Amino acid sequence: MFETTLGNEVRAITAVPGLDAIEVDPEAAAQAYRDRILTPLAETASEEEMRSATEQLSGACTTEIAAFDEFTSLLTDPDLVDRYDHVIFDTAPTGHTIRLLKLPGAWSGFLSTGKGDASCLGPLAGLDKQKARYAEAVERLSDAQETRLILVARPRTSALKEVARTAEELAAIGLRNQHLAINGVMPTMEGDDALAQALYNKDQAALDQMPEVIRQLPREDFPLRPENLVGLDALKRFARSQPAPADAASTHAATGDYPDLSTLVDDVEVRDKGLLMFMGKGGVGKTTMAAAFAAELARRGHEVLLTTTDPAAHLNETLGDVLPNLTVSRIDPAVEIERYKDEVMKRKGKHLDAEGLAMLEEDLRSPCTEEIAVFQAFSRVIRESSKHFVVMDTAPTGHTLLLLDTTGSYHQDMMRHSGDDKSVRMVTPMMRLQDPDATQVMIVTLAETTPILEAEKLQQDLRRAGIEPWAWIINASLAAADTRHPLLAQRARAEHPQIEKVASDLAARFAVVPMQAEDPAGADRLLSLVQL
Ligand SMILES: Nc1ncnc2c1ncn2[C@@H]1O[C@H](COP(=O)(O)OP(=O)(O)OP(=O)(O)O)[C@@H](O)[C@H]1O
Ligand SMILES: [Mg+2]
Repeated sequence: MFETTLGNEVRAITAVPGLDAIEVDPEAAAQAYRDRILTPLAETASEEEMRSATEQLSGACTTEIAAFDEFTSLLTDPDLVDRYDHVIFDTAPTGHTIRLLKLPGAWSGFLSTGKGDASCLGPLAGLDKQKARYAEAVERLSDAQETRLILVARPRTSALKEVARTAEELAAIGLRNQHLAINGVMPTMEGDDALAQALYNKDQAALDQMPEVIRQLPREDFPLRPENLVGLDALKRFARSQPAPADAASTHAATGDYPDLSTLVDDVEVRDKGLLMFMGKGGVGKTTMAAAFAAELARRGHEVLLTTTDPAAHLNETLGDVLPNLTVSRIDPAVEIERYKDEVMKRKGKHLDAEGLAMLEEDLRSPCTEEIAVFQAFSRVIRESSKHFVVMDTAPTGHTLLLLDTTGSYHQDMMRHSGDDKSVRMVTPMMRLQDPDATQVMIVTLAETTPILEAEKLQQDLRRAGIEPWAWIINASLAAADTRHPLLAQRARAEHPQIEKVASDLAARFAVVPMQAEDPAGADRLLSLVQL
């Protein structure tokens, strides 16, 4: 952002008088944190226990808690706080982390006694001695005179819903001084570019239907910029609402010639069966891509089972009528989470005192729990992929799979279902996911810097679990769409280097799917994503 190297020490940004900055590297913080907990543990624990403990400390929860650990040490340092008029943090801890930190009870016991379950409590073990500091940090965050929380969202229905959930969750903890920033709003426009008009309408509709909780917040909108907001000049132009200079490549075509989804379907259909999993961050288009893939395979005459957690109508019930080979099976995450929670509470709850119970209950509210519960439901249909195609619209992260695997609960689960017949060769879901002949993982992302970095992290995480992603899908690309609108065309040109990076450095194979004017819902629109 500032065209300078930041580090884990506060240093001055020389180009901006009055501004100092520090970068907390969450991965480095997490590593230091892991070492602090694991080193003493290594003296007594077995190799198996070490492997389980290491995995428990390798997930998003650890990174978040380690980052929060750094954050609190800044927040509770009186010298540092007194030196500045404003301190700006570019991410806040989630409600789940803050609630965990507020719980009484002995965190340190959990690495050993939590054995046998995937848990977010492990990472807390290293924090025991600093409870007073966390209490102080949380108190300052809840003080409306001192702390303002700015919720940032794109003008999309799903993003606004997510931000509304965060707003409620953090308000419940006491962070009530909330403001809303909507970023990347398509500006009012002249001209007759159909795509630009459709995107403008879509943004406005999403803003009109914004959830009530965030509608009441003080709000400011920021327009979609033609340029990437990197570097001081671009930031200044943004802050002062000045126009971006025309890009150097403006004589180049906005539209690139990239492989489309049909090339991936061609490769996949050769096998006539197998598991296809679509992974990626929230809202990038996993469900849409999974549905388009499933619909096209069915149209080509293959038998396909599509499993989805998406209750929305955009898959709609008619899919199966239009495409007789396609079966859609829905998984309701809320039902699966309840089922999983009941099961864990029944098994573990009876051995715990009131404090332990409170911790277990909070742990079961973690994002890992949802992933595990949903994956258990998915696992029930994975077997089917030895007979025909099974397309899954979300997949667990490598971390969750490893947790399930190293804590042993996964294997036990499998053994229970397989009964006593030891002569049957066991193929656990984990083994199936690692087998490139049985499973193909697609990483779905967008042609922008941060989504591609996130997708790269996801790929590393899967590799850690012994799973090699098969292809990348770059969705909602302007560079693959047809637009002459100056703003969109400039953004389209900015996508080319991102797509090149995926093509040459990151993906074994890839496809680019154009940004659509209308939400791709229903069989016709889904199929048209594949056959352009
Ligand atoms: N190529 C595209 N062009 C325009 N809109 C798209 C495109 N792909 C997906 N969308 C729209 O973007 C929204 C998010 O897509 P989708 O629900 O498939 O994402 P997801 O990754 O499954 O989200 P979640 O993480 O919430 O499950 C939907 O409204 C969908 O219709
Ligand atoms: Mg989805």
